[in-house]
Amino acid sequence: MQKKDRNNSLPKTLMDVIKIRRSYRKYTDDVIPNDKIDYLKKVVLEGASAFGFESPHFVFVTKPDVKKRLKKAIFSGLMGKANPWILRTKAFGFVVVCGYPDKSPKVDDKYLYLSECSFLTELMILAAAEVGIATCWLGAFGEVGVKKALSLPDEVRVVAVTPLGYPPEKIKVATWDYMARNLISKRRDPIEKNVTMVGDLAELP
Ligand SMILES: Cc1cc2nc3c(=O)[nH]c(=O)nc-3n(C[C@H](O)[C@H](O)[C@H](O)COP(=O)(O)O)c2cc1C
Repeated sequence: MQKKDRNNSLPKTLMDVIKIRRSYRKYTDDVIPNDKIDYLKKVVLEGASAFGFESPHFVFVTKPDVKKRLKKAIFSGLMGKANPWILRTKAFGFVVVCGYPDKSPKVDDKYLYLSECSFLTELMILAAAEVGIATCWLGAFGEVGVKKALSLPDEVRVVAVTPLGYPPEKIKVATWDYMARNLISKRRDPIEKNVTMVGDLAELP
């Protein structure tokens, strides 16, 4: 996913894509060409939904003035303060993942719009990694501010936000990404912690 490798070291298998995908909190100011943005939009439509695509809605933001408003909105509220780097990001664009709870199937007390939006977001994030575009799934943002910045309808819930941009050639020491790589990404627990093969009964840790 580094600039100099853009054309010749893109991942080839799904496992390569999964392994190369990492969250980036630093981006270059390079422009993402339209065909790549179109590819990501198409991938979203190839995903699954529980019952038609009534609930999820993906908003792509690339216009500079809207982007400026959106960055401030992401940082707004208590949750937004978890992502101070967003104010300075040079990322080319953003995707704001929205869901309509009222249009979503519900199983008991579970709204499936959260699952639908997450399914499609992950597909899009992997597709971005496939074509050399970096992302960072944001769960912490000022939802009220984001809705206001984009004039989203009251009934919409914002499930996730991600920047879209080219990653820097190198991750500098003592940056958010350096710390996340070393403290979180590289930390993988033994497979048994998160995956169980059921024999007679599941024995969860
Ligand atoms: C549901 C969810 C919410 C997340 N929210 C944030 C966030 O608000 N800010 C952030 O910098 N990273 C966020 N992340 C990214 C994780 O911190 C990141 O996935 C983790 O550091 C592992 O690194 P990797 O994605 O590079 O493997 C989120 C990831 C997930 C799956």
